[in-house]
Amino acid sequence: MDSTIVWDESAGDKTPRSRYFDDVYFNSDGAIAETIYVFIEGNQLLKRFIAHPRDTFVVAETGFGSGLNFLLLWQTFRHFKRHYPQHKLQKLQFYSVEKYPLSTQEMGEIYAQLHHWQVTHQPRLLQAARDQSTMLQSIMSPPTVIQPTLSQQAITPQSITPQPILSDYVDVDDDDELMLLANQLQQHWGAACYQFDNVEAKILVADVVDFPAFLAENLAQSGLGVDAWFFDGFSPQKNPAMWSAELFANCYHLTQPQGTFATFTAAGFVRRNLQHAGFCVNKRKGYGVKREMLVGIKA
Ligand SMILES: C[S@@+](CC[C@H](N)C(=O)[O-])C[C@H]1O[C@@H](n2cnc3c(N)ncnc32)[C@H](O)[C@@H]1O
Repeated sequence: MDSTIVWDESAGDKTPRSRYFDDVYFNSDGAIAETIYVFIEGNQLLKRFIAHPRDTFVVAETGFGSGLNFLLLWQTFRHFKRHYPQHKLQKLQFYSVEKYPLSTQEMGEIYAQLHHWQVTHQPRLLQAARDQSTMLQSIMSPPTVIQPTLSQQAITPQSITPQPILSDYVDVDDDDELMLLANQLQQHWGAACYQFDNVEAKILVADVVDFPAFLAENLAQSGLGVDAWFFDGFSPQKNPAMWSAELFANCYHLTQPQGTFATFTAAGFVRRNLQHAGFCVNKRKGYGVKREMLVGIKA
């Protein structure tokens, strides 16, 4: 059987590219920092965890791919629980959909690069973390009620320096944690449901059109809605099916009030479809050389 990914080495780094969509899963140059910036920070997850009023936080994603987003989300949640073991928020539920699941071997090949991406990119992040260590203290001070609001102001591309503060998401001496989590996921890869301590993950292997019904069925049992979305389905130009008005209308319907989304793209038709669905949409500086990305909220 053909592999789902081809390795693109044209830019020096090894980058996984989809055979089906001729697009990259993520940019190897800064993969970890970019994922934290776009999806974790884009949804303000650490603050949201601290302010969360329920015992479960629900994240849903379109496009599971290698699971890197999930791994970094899981790591962020573990970090939060280490600092707030008694917090009311005890569980993370994660749902994703994937039409072309990677093989266990392909997952392993991608995870083998994690160390390289960390080694290459952590020094810059660690420096930023040291420079701004007080920020961690302020984020980790005892919980006050923080409303998870996103700025309603349009953000000009120059107004934010995209620099995730690593120490907000991991304890600085925990270099290998991501690798350990990746190994756990890989070992269980292919299961319908993953239960890792207080984190539950369900991945629907199907087309994204089937995802809303799957989510509705799962969420009906708990009465919960989605607190945060990761929209991550390859470039909208190359894969418009992952960015349709109908999909976003269904996603909006499944979202908890004050629930948010983040996505790497700022494509005009994606923004319009999200707005049409009902989300309040804002532009934010994109990661690195990217001009803009989108974040939003169900107000
Ligand atoms: C950019 S990658 C996602 C990267 C991923 N979130 C990660 O952390 O590695 C987009 C993913 O969407 C999947 N995909 C594309 N079209 C799809 C569809 N119609 N239904 C479900 N999944 C789809 C692709 O196979 C690919 O794995």
